[in-house]
Amino acid sequence: MVMIEQFTVAQIDAAANAIRGRTRQHPTIGLILGSGLSSLGDNLPHPDIIPYHDIPHWPTSTVSGHSGQLIIGALEGHTVLILQGRAHFYEGYTPQQITLPVRVMQRLGIQTLIITNAAGGMNPAFQPGDLMLIRDHINLPGMAGHTPLRGRNEDQLGPRFPDMTVPYSAHLRHLAQEAAAAHNIPLHEGVYTCVAGPSYETPAELRFLQRIGGDAVGMSTAPEVVVARHAGMAVLGISTITNLALPDPPPGTILSHTEVIEMGKLVIPRLTTLLHAILRRLPHE
Ligand code: HPA
Repeated sequence: MVMIEQFTVAQIDAAANAIRGRTRQHPTIGLILGSGLSSLGDNLPHPDIIPYHDIPHWPTSTVSGHSGQLIIGALEGHTVLILQGRAHFYEGYTPQQITLPVRVMQRLGIQTLIITNAAGGMNPAFQPGDLMLIRDHINLPGMAGHTPLRGRNEDQLGPRFPDMTVPYSAHLRHLAQEAAAAHNIPLHEGVYTCVAGPSYETPAELRFLQRIGGDAVGMSTAPEVVVARHAGMAVLGISTITNLALPDPPPGTILSHTEVIEMGKLVIPRLTTLLHAILRRLPHE
């Protein structure tokens, strides 16, 4: 019987070992930074920086706004592993390839994943530049079969049928809301809908996504979160609302990747403050 191509545990470990060979630090928290948000990792003291192309099997992003390197360093008293840039399904990678970095984090012993993305705001209360804590997601490609868990299950990595009742840690969400309140940073909470892209949504698609309960829409994150939950990690997700994604936009409105990247950059100071405040509230080892 022909099965789909899957990474073996040995291949995942080859990637993990390539990272171990380049650092003496032991990260406990992973951060995946999305479109235009990569500069968050730029100022860590004594960073170990590993370009993605030095890691076997690692997917590299082909999209502008996503740089391709991994940084290990200290942030608010934690040792963190930061991914500056991620790969997307629309680039031609399989869901398994997109999520290899999360598997590698698992093998490195990381138990907490913080994931950010750029998203279109479908909730009429949202404005470009707002932040949304992800309470739940709808993984449309995943529900249609494009899930990283398709194929033989590696029981040593996680269960065949992982529970998704609380995909985004209630405890981490609580800490994030506390951190946001302490710094007067407005923080919406809502449902992230994941689509395959790369075309932005039609008005009818946005109406559909709103009706099924979506507050924001983007082209990433859900596959990584599925693997993180399979791996037993606690997940915190934050969307930066880079644009409005409403079914009835004012006449003449168009959406471009440039707009998404530029708005992402404007949000960086607030998102940085928020992430630092969240990390300060996380228990130190
Ligand atoms: N749709 C999908 N993905 C996105 C959007 C959007 O409006 N904005 C940023 N990423």
